Amino acid sequence: MEGIAAERFAASRAWHERARRVLAGGVSSQFRAAGVFHPMHYVRAEGARVWDADGSELLDYTLSQGPCILGHSHPELLTRVEAALARGQLYAGQHEEEVLLAEALQRLLPCAERLRFASTGSEAAQACIRLARVVTGRQRIIKFDGHYHGWLDSVAFNVAPPGNSAGGPPVPWCGGIAESVAADLICLPWNDLDAVRQAMARHGNEVAAIITEPVMCNQGCIEPAPGFLEGLREVCDAHGSALIFDEIITGFRLDIGGAQAYFGVTPDLALFGKALGSGFPIAAIAGRARWIAPLEAGAAYHAGTMNGNNACVAAALATVEILERDDCAALRHIAKLGGALRDGLARLGAKYGLRVQGPGPMFHTGFSGLKRATEYRHIAADDRAAYQAFCRAMLLQGVRVIERGLWYVSAAHTEADIADTLARAETALEAVVAAQRP
Ligand SMILES: Cc1ncc(COP(=O)(O)O)c(C=O)c1O
Repeated sequence: MEGIAAERFAASRAWHERARRVLAGGVSSQFRAAGVFHPMHYVRAEGARVWDADGSELLDYTLSQGPCILGHSHPELLTRVEAALARGQLYAGQHEEEVLLAEALQRLLPCAERLRFASTGSEAAQACIRLARVVTGRQRIIKFDGHYHGWLDSVAFNVAPPGNSAGGPPVPWCGGIAESVAADLICLPWNDLDAVRQAMARHGNEVAAIITEPVMCNQGCIEPAPGFLEGLREVCDAHGSALIFDEIITGFRLDIGGAQAYFGVTPDLALFGKALGSGFPIAAIAGRARWIAPLEAGAAYHAGTMNGNNACVAAALATVEILERDDCAALRHIAKLGGALRDGLARLGAKYGLRVQGPGPMFHTGFSGLKRATEYRHIAADDRAAYQAFCRAMLLQGVRVIERGLWYVSAAHTEADIADTLARAETALEAVVAAQRP
């Protein structure tokens, strides 16, 4: 496989070697360093496809790690962005489309009595945590094992710990994270309401917020157990702590109103990004008026030179309008095709030992003996080497997937793409299994 790849991706490899001499690790985000053979270089993207530096056409299920929900280079979206740019790029002041976007989000998102725009999800998570601390006058944050809320110190713990924390000391994601932050964090296994209740019974009067992805998208795409999100809501109400939903992945994907509309549980604060901007850097902080109030009163600051710039706001407004059009036809298409791809892969998975689970617009695949993963520990035990081999075989089949096992489907994918992908996946799975035979 390596030999064929060396030939097939030679230009990409050469670009990577050159990039490594100037860019740290040859990349601009750590997640891109994981590259299936090596970090790939691309020259073009359109619809459900990307073209690499060697000119190979790849069917894309990464959607650029989630954002390109409409598909790449959506013509209407790009026209709207061009029109906005013709009026300037950044006023460092407010403008009409920014208000229109905020009004649309206020109408669509159950918790959004007030909003602020930021540029990335990491900053938006930081802002939500700051707000929760000001309103409650408390410091500690509960986060869950396997959940990722961005790369900043305040939450970069137990992202991928060796096993479940069981309430033990938080494990930093990497070097250089301020150790002192750990004292303000309580890390717990997800979907375990008893663990949350026990932690809150002991520490509730110190806990400013519980932050959670409403679906554990970053590890296994595990859905909340029945009653889990409702239980978090109750426990936060009982202790006066904020419930923060990190909707960076679920937002504008599971439902136009996010996971909070999909599951019918309204958080106090929520953060949105990725799909919201279709690949342009914009994030939103949304919340109940009481929890956003410190920004209005000046008791907490949130800032950003680039926030609310013309291109990003126009991209987000266009994305939301396109997704909402015809009774959310695009989102229904994504759910239908995503569900078909997930189910097709599950049928193949039964033969080849691939576990497949998740709501449909996004889902997860991994090799393990388990039919269903219900907690982070199950995902940590997956056979990562076998999955890497599958990703390599898929790339050679002309299909680009995320090495962590997450799949995203866009509005640009077609039924023919799904059928084609399933045929290629079967060939790739055969190759992986054949390579494992003694
Ligand atoms: C659930 C979740 N929250 C927050 C973030 C951070 O967002 P950003 O990469 O825009 O900083 C991510 C990024 O992957 C994410 O998946």
